[in-house]
Amino acid sequence: MKTTFGPQKIMFPCPVALVVTGTMENANIVTIAWVSLLTSLPPSIGISVGQKGFSGEAIKKNKNFTVNIATVDIMEESDFCGITSGKEIDKFTQSGLTKMPAKVVASPIIKECPLNIECRLTDWSIVGRTNHFVGEIVETHIDTDMLKDPAHYGSVDIDAFNPLIYIGGARQYRKVGEKVGDAYSIGNALKK
Ligand SMILES: Cc1cc2nc3c(=O)[nH]c(=O)nc-3n(C[C@H](O)[C@H](O)[C@H](O)COP(=O)(O)O)c2cc1C
Repeated sequence: MKTTFGPQKIMFPCPVALVVTGTMENANIVTIAWVSLLTSLPPSIGISVGQKGFSGEAIKKNKNFTVNIATVDIMEESDFCGITSGKEIDKFTQSGLTKMPAKVVASPIIKECPLNIECRLTDWSIVGRTNHFVGEIVETHIDTDMLKDPAHYGSVDIDAFNPLIYIGGARQYRKVGEKVGDAYSIGNALKK
């Protein structure tokens, strides 16, 4: 049996992305769970950013941002950046997270996040009461000690990375479990 709840905003799991806007001198961090890769050519990311906070206007002004993937080690700092506003405080100073210059865009990246994605704003629209930003990925940084093969970005050791997961609805943080199968291949067993 199933039951229905009408239109609800529930989705899980979601990554916990720390989106940085601004410059090395004046940067802000916002916690974003509504984030997704959109297309591979050119590689692009979509993020939903509320209209009331500091970050939406900052992204429109600066036309770039970085997406930094949080780990379990920085759960408290990540939550903090999602319950405070750059309108009132300097989140880098107060969270203790470290900013580093990006390579292509002006917005800094976060040292403590092992995966940092630099984005140039290519499109945006308002969906309901939220800004939907599309960022073209112009550079990707990965901590080398997270890579099983230093030449391949896909070889990330996910256990070492330990990404922080957000469970919408229950409002919980979790961590990823063990591998259960090989994608794009396990389904071959059902092919006739
Ligand atoms: C786990 C978590 C996930 C969040 N996801 C989003 C999101 O996807 N989009 C959004 O606009 N706000 C999201 N928020 C809320 C913002 O982070 C929050 O409104 C923040 O205070 C805005 O900061 P700013 O004013 O500095 O931009 C999330 C908060 C938490 C704790």
